[in-house]
Amino acid sequence: MLIFGGTRSMGLAWACAKTLNHEVGKSEIKTFPDGEKYVKISSKVVGRECAVIQSITSNDDLVELILMLDALRDLGAHQVHAVTPYLAYMRQDKRFTEGEALSAKTVLRLLHELSDSLTTINCHFLNDPGEAVYHHVNFMNLDATPLLARYIREKIEKPVIIAPDKGSLAYAKKAAQVLDCEFNHLSKKRISGEEVAMKPKELDVKGLDVIILDDIISTGSTIVEATKVIRGWHPRSINVGCVHGLFLKGVDAFQGMVDRLVATDTLENPASKVSVAGLIAADLKR
Ligand code: R5P
Repeated sequence: MLIFGGTRSMGLAWACAKTLNHEVGKSEIKTFPDGEKYVKISSKVVGRECAVIQSITSNDDLVELILMLDALRDLGAHQVHAVTPYLAYMRQDKRFTEGEALSAKTVLRLLHELSDSLTTINCHFLNDPGEAVYHHVNFMNLDATPLLARYIREKIEKPVIIAPDKGSLAYAKKAAQVLDCEFNHLSKKRISGEEVAMKPKELDVKGLDVIILDDIISTGSTIVEATKVIRGWHPRSINVGCVHGLFLKGVDAFQGMVDRLVATDTLENPASKVSVAGLIAADLKR
């Protein structure tokens, strides 16, 4: 298999290719002065199985991926697998008010149309890992939370996993099974895109090493509010693990607030200490 990386996930493409002992595909990706994307596939792909790994955090990332997928097909690739470790636009999987566009449906259908298989990691609107079907799109949803939990477990003594909201509870439960520890959740109320509040709740985590697991840290409000509440319960330490670290306010915003902050490399940032390369490689082998 030839593994191509988009600009957002070049490191992951190399790591997956190394794990699988496959070749990295050569491509040229540029942005024209007016903002248009240019993609050229330089490797010979006729009759070959290819994969493109590209996280999507912006419209540019998405355009780059669809140009790569379509070019590979045009150039005669036998099969084209799309891997989007982080896939944006998954927040709008439902019409919350009349007239809204279902961005999750549009983006998933577009990628499905241009590829033979589609894989993502901790898709925002799904609570369970495995094969998923949404608006006639079949795709694979991998779970990286056990990787985060295992990494943090090696550095602490008395783990207890807390999900910051009910939406992350299923993943927290699975990670707790892996670590053989207790788990629980907070109840979050979203006030706006930037503001959240935690509903009153009391958990007994005194003297324990709390691991807060979440799929995404975006503005950081969820983790800030969760940390404030949990600190009041006198845990031994607060450790935060998130799969997709968007960190819109930077990782420094958490300094002094939490004892440990760990993210995966679905998005590369100073906190990405856990690699999902093995997870993706195992899926590509399937
Ligand atoms: C919410 O449903 C998600 O699981 C995350 O908690 C949320 O996306 C984090 O966003 P922020 O960092 O902006 O609070």
